[in-house]
Amino acid sequence: MAVFVTRRIPAEGLRLLSQASGCRVQQWDSDEPVPRAELLAGVAGTRGLLCLLSDRIDREVLDAAGPGLKVISTLSVGFDHLALDEIKKRGIRVGYTPDVLTDATAELSVALLLSACRRLPEAAEQVKSGGWTTWKPLWMCGYGLSDSTVGIIGLGRIGQAVARRLKPFGVSKFLYTGNSPKPESAAEFGAEFVPLTRLAEESDFVVVTCALTPATQGLCNKDFFGRMKKTSVFVNTSRGAVVNQEDLYEALAQGRIAAAGLDVTTPEPLPTDHPLLSLRNCVILPHIGSATYATRSTMAVLAAKNLLAGLRGEPMPHELQL
Ligand code: NDP
Ligand code: DGY
Repeated sequence: MAVFVTRRIPAEGLRLLSQASGCRVQQWDSDEPVPRAELLAGVAGTRGLLCLLSDRIDREVLDAAGPGLKVISTLSVGFDHLALDEIKKRGIRVGYTPDVLTDATAELSVALLLSACRRLPEAAEQVKSGGWTTWKPLWMCGYGLSDSTVGIIGLGRIGQAVARRLKPFGVSKFLYTGNSPKPESAAEFGAEFVPLTRLAEESDFVVVTCALTPATQGLCNKDFFGRMKKTSVFVNTSRGAVVNQEDLYEALAQGRIAAAGLDVTTPEPLPTDHPLLSLRNCVILPHIGSATYATRSTMAVLAAKNLLAGLRGEPMPHELQL
């Protein structure tokens, strides 16, 4: 059974595949993304594909793979890079990595929120540049979480884990949006299900933790930012495309919202001359939500187990229901 792995992944995951009987592993053994031509050549004739969120798995890739491709395992919980309709049509099974990265991503979301609202990168820069001349009562002030209202767009696994971590900071109210209310999950935080417009208007902090879908693409746009308070902070750790970045830039540059923290952007990497990077009130990280050694290792093992189970026709530890 030929398998193509599109990147260098944590050794524990690759070892499982290499040691599996009957499994012949070919790998793009680099930290950099596989060039499209190499991906198309690499998948030809394979039965299994282990891919990353940066690989666009569309009809062209599936055609290049041929009818023998039976399983795709992505090293991610997000699956917006997979052409699911086409994959389903061809009877290919898909594995993904929910749960194991929830804690790491929620932790990073909180770190990013605090970095943005308390202006940590800006303040640290002042120390290095000599801008720190003395203790000043009105200098480097930001916004805190005590008695605040936090709005969560997408109260899923990561959204709930973020709320769980923020609650002890003294948040007084949680709001959330989604396709439908989740009374059982929301009860833990006393969170109220509200329309997106109300979430924008009432939240002091907005945290985006939803999946990227046609419905969430560009969800946070000019209208959304226009409804937010001037003192509010926006954080996105889901996918860059949920945000209209031109509208976010305008809102930040004109002081219509206080600050933003982004772990995800469009495109990735964000060009170093992108206007968002010129703003002092925007903290941007390079998509490191799940980047702890332990989490990435566990993700690789789970992705390998999903792939092997799929190849053997067994139930996967985490299979996406298509
Ligand atoms: P879940 O499936 O548990 O949660 C996704 C949430 O999105 C659900 O609560 C769902 O609500 C919500 N959602 C779907 N459509 C909408 C909508 N139109 N408006 C508002 N909410 C909506 O996934 P996870 O929590 O595990 O992961 C969420 C996403 O986080 C991933 O898809 C991925 O893109 C991103 N991610 C980013 C990481 C990073 O490194 N920055 C790391 C890991 C994940 P409902 O149930 O009502 O449909
Ligand atoms: C995911 O899993 O979807 C993240 O973006 C990376 O861990």
